[in-house]
Amino acid sequence: MTKLSVNINKIATLRNARGGNNPDVVKVALDCEKFGAEGITVHPRPDERHIRRSDVYALRPLLTTEFNMEGYPSPEFIDLVLKAKPHQVTLVPDAPDQITSNAGWDTKTHQAFLTELIDTFSSAGIRTSIFVGTDLEIIEYAAKTGTDRVELYTEPYATLYPKNPEAAIAPFVEAAKLVRSLGMGLNAGHDLSLVNLKYMHDNIPWLDEVSIGHALISDALYLGLKKTIEEYKNCLL
Ligand code: PXP
Repeated sequence: MTKLSVNINKIATLRNARGGNNPDVVKVALDCEKFGAEGITVHPRPDERHIRRSDVYALRPLLTTEFNMEGYPSPEFIDLVLKAKPHQVTLVPDAPDQITSNAGWDTKTHQAFLTELIDTFSSAGIRTSIFVGTDLEIIEYAAKTGTDRVELYTEPYATLYPKNPEAAIAPFVEAAKLVRSLGMGLNAGHDLSLVNLKYMHDNIPWLDEVSIGHALISDALYLGLKKTIEEYKNCLL
């Protein structure tokens, strides 16, 4: 079964636009769970432009599904993760001022750094995942860090999908097979949507988890949160 983890960054962005507590990030997260999401993802950034440290602490004791914290492993992020102890940490190589993550790790260059981090988080009982592209050598080096999972960066798939679905999915199927053969779990995320999610899942049904934010929250403006989550879950049947 592929779990749907809803990334709630955009809810925090909307709240922060007015300075109050509307929409309430915790309430939305709990409602996502009530409507069928199997996980909640947050991506706290150093400038707290969406998710704040205080959101992480507020969410942690209340969530009943899987809590995934993703981000660049700065000393502040590492400290927050070790204090909050989510079920999973996803390491992302994004610069502090980046709008959104736009590449996976170079696991060869950063092998020692990543291995040490994986060890730190694993020792704390937190499942680990490394954000990577579909380059096969990069995936082999990811496995050498001892990470439990990798998350495939799916933006290139989403971009090519409307023009050529077969070409779009091909490198992801190859990468996903290698991930499986190396004994790692498999997550995927970035620009997944109601347009492209089902085809990805049909071709890679052994995906453990997809993490989806932007498109899902945008769809909820038209469909409502409950119906939107149901529709995303239908893509994963
Ligand atoms: N996975 C990672 C590592 C991300 O950084 C993001 C964006 O925060 C996502 C998944 C979700 O991407 P999207 O918002 O396009 O669904």
